[in-house]
Amino acid sequence: MCGIFGCVLKEGEAAPLIHQGLRRLEYRGYDSVGFATISDGTLHMRKDQGRVDEVVGRLGLDKMPGSLGVGHTRWATHGAPMMVNAHPHTDCENQIAVIHNGVIDNFLELKEELINRGHVFESRTDTEVIPHLIEEEMKGDINIGEAILRALRRLEGSYAIAVVSSADLERIYCARNESPLVIGVSDKGTFCASDVPAMLPYTNKVVYLRNGEFAILEREGFKIKRIQDGSAVEREVEEVTWTLEMAEKQGYPHFMLKEIFEQPKSLRNSLRLQQQYLDLLTAFLDRGRELFLVAAGTSYLACIAASYMFSKLARLTTYPAISSEFIAQYGSSVGIDSVVLAVSQSGETYDTLKAIDHARMRATTVLGVTNTVGSTLTRVSRAYIIQQSGPEMGVAATKTFTSQLMVLSQLALRLARTRGKVSQDEVDDFEARLLEVPVYVEKVLEKHGTSIRSLVEKYSGERLFLFLGRGISAATALEGRLKLLELTYVPSLAYPAGESKHGPISVVEEGTPIIFLCPRGETRREIVGSIMEMKARGARIISVCEEGDRDIKELSDDVIEMPLGIPELLSPIPYIVPLQLYAYYLAVEKGLDPDKPRNLAKSVTVP
Ligand code: G6P
Repeated sequence: MCGIFGCVLKEGEAAPLIHQGLRRLEYRGYDSVGFATISDGTLHMRKDQGRVDEVVGRLGLDKMPGSLGVGHTRWATHGAPMMVNAHPHTDCENQIAVIHNGVIDNFLELKEELINRGHVFESRTDTEVIPHLIEEEMKGDINIGEAILRALRRLEGSYAIAVVSSADLERIYCARNESPLVIGVSDKGTFCASDVPAMLPYTNKVVYLRNGEFAILEREGFKIKRIQDGSAVEREVEEVTWTLEMAEKQGYPHFMLKEIFEQPKSLRNSLRLQQQYLDLLTAFLDRGRELFLVAAGTSYLACIAASYMFSKLARLTTYPAISSEFIAQYGSSVGIDSVVLAVSQSGETYDTLKAIDHARMRATTVLGVTNTVGSTLTRVSRAYIIQQSGPEMGVAATKTFTSQLMVLSQLALRLARTRGKVSQDEVDDFEARLLEVPVYVEKVLEKHGTSIRSLVEKYSGERLFLFLGRGISAATALEGRLKLLELTYVPSLAYPAGESKHGPISVVEEGTPIIFLCPRGETRREIVGSIMEMKARGARIISVCEEGDRDIKELSDDVIEMPLGIPELLSPIPYIVPLQLYAYYLAVEKGLDPDKPRNLAKSVTVP
């Protein structure tokens, strides 16, 4: 989950561009930073623990000389976040610098072998075996490109790497296996980065490197080869339509707030999906005996909500599954008549990709919903849909959650029509309300966009929160809790309200704040019962309910009022918005950075 940026320029200095590139990649990890550049035949390297701007300022990284260089922002997997473990890592002679995102599974064996051959290691990272392996291969008197290829063939695990060396003053060498790497081309030179937004100020012409590929970046262009046999690969350059403006803050203090406010727009985009893709996915879904919605993090919580829609509207037995558990839990039972729909904003989450690899081996139909064109998920799925929410820079997912639900609702609706198990009126009504969702979200933002701060202040000293909901609102409660936990580090529990009697109620005491999700619908009567149970134990009740819902209001200490007419099955999309705002403002109130919560990364591309 580290970030990689590199460039080889026709003129000018590389270091300031690397600095800017890494700033845009910091969401991928931010515990240490390092640069390597080449000038006057010399490899220059500096690195340390800390965040991008701080380390760049302290070590003067953006003054490092040379028109060719690479930089790295790290999220520790092997070895604590400290200077020796920061990237780049080098060989014994400090002539080969390697930056890496991923995990080398066989690094212990390789390290032992290299130590026996006299190599000296400085760090506790898996990455450091790579420059030493390259150094070892170069003893065979071959050029560095060939030595890197041979070294890569010995690696097992996931990697995106970029290599610079004083043995070649003109090129950056990169490779990819399971971790993302994109090449960018422009008249200024050639770039590589972990994702597209990092390169957008310089180019929108990109080439996605695929698993098992190696690339040589030169000032005038690039070459791609297969790692396995060194054969050449021809690949078309693609033009991305995201503008730099789309990827930047546009006057908001944080990306997260900008992304929360962007939701009416991103939801409208997610409503404009091409019908033929919806039809194609629906046809595959209709063939399934059962549906597994496989994902991690917030995407998994979107899957929990969506499972209610598929079961209820389309009468398809649907299991939401955490991707890291999928193989252990369902691996032996999925088969040719199961369908796996993987949901991943990045399309690169390691556990999700592993789960679908397994499903594919068992002849299961694998479908995808992702935000990232060209991601691994798009290549390994039988069919996929791009959720169209644009780049999300805040580590905590907001607009991508609502867009995923928008896509999944449309699929559930279409499948409901195909299967014809519920009445035409019900399906028509669902469709009409679905089209209104961006408007509901707009109204929520108008009403609570800033005013929710007074509620946040009122409860800002609390050390524990509970989130409860029934039916599909149990998923909203889980996502509301996840946002609060990620951003403010305040311990909090979320449960289906009916289950709260079986444990969580024991932590409730006088004054404990409980956020109840109470949309109008089938579960409302039961939720009133749950509120009363908690109130009887002294809890303070904050309800998210429909405007003018007097019963709920009377039972609550505070209410967050929602627009009229939102059907229960669509409620997670508008009802999550005040909870996103709540977590955001509480983080700000506590002096925390909502865009970069500690220990988290935007994209988890390691096991
Ligand atoms: C990380 C991010 C989450 C995200 C999850 C799954 O944990 O911090 O925001 O929901 O990965 O990511 P994906 O790209 O697969 O949706």
